[in-house]
Amino acid sequence: FEDFKIMATASSAPDHVVTNDELATMMDTSDEWITQRTGIKRRRIATEETTSSMCTDVATQLIAQSDLTAKDIDLIAVATMSPDYLTPSVSAMVQGNIGADHAIAFDIDAACSGFVYGLHLVKQMLIANQQKNAILIGGETLSKLLDWSDRSTAVLFGDGAGGVLIRNTAVDKGSFISEDLRTLGNLGQYLTAGQTGNPSPFATDQQPFSPFFKMNGRRVYSFAVKNVPESINDALKQANLTADEVDCFVLHQANQRIVERIADELAVSMAKFPINIDEYGNTAAASEPILLDQLVKQKIIKRGDVIALSGFGGGLTVGTMIMKY
Ligand code: ACO
Repeated sequence: FEDFKIMATASSAPDHVVTNDELATMMDTSDEWITQRTGIKRRRIATEETTSSMCTDVATQLIAQSDLTAKDIDLIAVATMSPDYLTPSVSAMVQGNIGADHAIAFDIDAACSGFVYGLHLVKQMLIANQQKNAILIGGETLSKLLDWSDRSTAVLFGDGAGGVLIRNTAVDKGSFISEDLRTLGNLGQYLTAGQTGNPSPFATDQQPFSPFFKMNGRRVYSFAVKNVPESINDALKQANLTADEVDCFVLHQANQRIVERIADELAVSMAKFPINIDEYGNTAAASEPILLDQLVKQKIIKRGDVIALSGFGGGLTVGTMIMKY
């Protein structure tokens, strides 16, 4: 699949910053515990922003950076586990908001792997439909799924959105080199959020409605430090590349310690593993595209660089994509 290119990157986050010290006034925690265990110092939390408003902002920026109008977009996909509604999808709301009248739109839910799963899907759909321009966004308002009295999850997550404009460049040779996607559904109960319940009078087992995150942090941690390096190694093998030949690893920002363990496992210097979890916390599907946008804007990632994107989380899922930027 050497016919795709990321033409532009963009991101958007709520203005409101919540520090660890502020959280310590709300629950029994401390800046020291959060920093040592996770690397997080602060996170953005939505006040009036919604998943669809942040994703619309990202889509508008992507089009403004390109030579296209909204009418030239063929496909809009949003990876999210915290949509405004179950229907309409966030992507359909974005399509309507920006006036992308010719685009089809759908959401993807693969939690923190959603952005890489989205890259895979968008690529396949552009090939199948022989289309040219797609927008893929990861966007989350995880603050609405948090029990703000539960210190074991409330300190970990944040809100934001990031996205890319992808062009099917059959002529000028693009750059999606290889990928490895995994789903371990048997481990799914280690991380749940947004249980919808069934209040129907016909339901024999009236499952409760509960928006809140529930996570067995240690299990998810062990899953990540085993499966993510394996996934990256498998994708590198397919690409005939070694880890040393990757210029930059854009990893899901769930926990700085997890990133350090993965770097160690791959025997690659942490200098190639940029981190922004200190500023944003874990923003699930928005995590890699926000980081990617920052690295592109800071010119740390340049055209021609080999990058490895890898996400992991709810499902449980892992997704890795090796590409030439
Ligand atoms: N402040 C202070 N103490 C706390 C806090 C807190 N915020 N949270 C938990 N503790 C306490 C616990 O109660 C426990 O106390 P105890 O020993 O008296 O029982 C102690 O700290 C240790 O708790 P653990 O949960 O064992 O801490 P651990 O070192 O495992 O760190 C963490 C927890 C940060 C959640 C870690 O396990 C982790 O990062 N796991 C992976 C999470 C992840 O990657 N998720 C990604 C997917 S997210 C997605 O897909 C949306």
